[in-house]
Amino acid sequence: MARVYNFGAGPATMPVPVLEQIQSELLDYRGEGLSILEMSHRTPAFSAVIEHAEDTLRRLMGIPDSYAVLFLQGGATLQFAGIPMNLMRTGRAGYIRSGLFSTLAWQEAGKYGEAPVVASSEPTGYDRVPDTGSYTVPQDLDYLYICENNTIYGTKFWELPDTGAVPLVSDMSSCFLSEPVDVARYGLIYAGVQKNAGPAGLSCVIVRRDLIAPGPAKPYCPSYLDYRVQDEKDSMMNTPNTFAIYACSLVFDWIEAQGGLAAMRERNRAKADLMYAALDKSRLFRPHAQKASRSMMNATFRTGSDALDQEFLAGAEARGMIGIKGHRSTRGMRASMYNALPIEAVQALTAYMEEFEAAHPAEAEAAALAAGEKSARSC
Ligand SMILES: Cc1ncc(COP(=O)(O)O)c(C=O)c1O
Repeated sequence: MARVYNFGAGPATMPVPVLEQIQSELLDYRGEGLSILEMSHRTPAFSAVIEHAEDTLRRLMGIPDSYAVLFLQGGATLQFAGIPMNLMRTGRAGYIRSGLFSTLAWQEAGKYGEAPVVASSEPTGYDRVPDTGSYTVPQDLDYLYICENNTIYGTKFWELPDTGAVPLVSDMSSCFLSEPVDVARYGLIYAGVQKNAGPAGLSCVIVRRDLIAPGPAKPYCPSYLDYRVQDEKDSMMNTPNTFAIYACSLVFDWIEAQGGLAAMRERNRAKADLMYAALDKSRLFRPHAQKASRSMMNATFRTGSDALDQEFLAGAEARGMIGIKGHRSTRGMRASMYNALPIEAVQALTAYMEEFEAAHPAEAEAAALAAGEKSARSC
C-alpha cells in the first residue's frame, strides 16, 4: 500500500492507526454484529462513543464544566450564522478581518445585527493578523470574533486581542488541537473538524454556558442551532453525524496516546521550523506570511511565476506529495502540516524544494533580484 504525503488543507490527512482501527471495526463494531454506520444513535454503544468523545476532548483541552461541548453538523460555515443568532443580544458584535473565512463570518453576521470591523489586515493582502496594539476593543460589543488561524493565507494570532469584559469568539478550525489552549480566555471556540480531528461536515462548538443560558439571542434561530437546546440534548436533538463523531473520538484517543496537546505542539513546531527555514533560505520561494504571524499549520509561498508554480506542483505530485496547490484566491503553494502529517513529509517537501531550486538557477536569480528590488523600494 502506497500512501501519499497529503498536505491538503482539509479534508486532511488522518493518523494511520485511526484509519486502521476504523477498518478493523467496520463490519462488526466491537461485537455488536453491525457497523457503526448502521447503528442507531440511541443505542448504548453509540452513547458510549459520543460520551467518550466529549470526555476525551474535555481532558485534552482542559475544558471546564462551565462550558458546553457540542458536536454539530454543517461544518464550520453554519456557525458563521449560529454564533450571531445565539450571542448577538444587544445586536452589535465586533469582527477582526484577517482573511477570507473571517470576512465570510463578518458578512453573515451583518444579516443579524451590526457587525463593526474592529481591525483588518486586508490592506496588506492578509499577510499578517492585525497587531494587537493597533486597535482597542469597544466594550459595548456582544462579542469579538477572530479567525485564529487563517488557513488560506497561513497566518495565526500568536497573541490574543485584549477584549476586556467582551467575550472572545474564535474560529479554531485550522489550529484545533494543534497546541495547548487556555479555554477560559474564550467565550466560544469552534472548529470544523476536517483538519486536525476527523471527516468533514462536523463542527465542535465549545461555549461558556452562561452565554447561552437565556436561549438564543434571535427568536428565529433554528432549533438545530440553538446551543442551549443542543447542550440539553447532548448534541442529539436529531440524528447526529454518528460516523464523524466516532472517527473524531478515535483521533482524540490518538492525540492523548501521543502525549496530548503539548506533544502535538512539539511535533508541529518541529515541522513548521523545518518548512520556514527552507523558505527563509530559498532565493526562489517567497513566503506570503510576515514572520510574526506565521501559522504552524499552513505555510503559504510562491515563486512569483504562475508557470513555475505549476511546474513545481506537478513535480511534487509525481513524487507522491499532494494537496500543495494554494487556495484559488491566493494561488501559489500552501503546505498544510496538521497533527497527523509526519515530519518525513516535510523533509521530503523541503528536499524537493531545494532540488527544484537547484534545477532553476536563472529563475532563482531573477526571483532574488525582484525581491531585493521590492524590499529596496519599500525602504
Ligand atoms: C478557518 C476556517 N474557517 C471556516 C472554514 C469553513 O469550514 P467548512 O467548510 O467546514 O464550513 C474553513 C474551511 O477550510 C476554515 O479553514
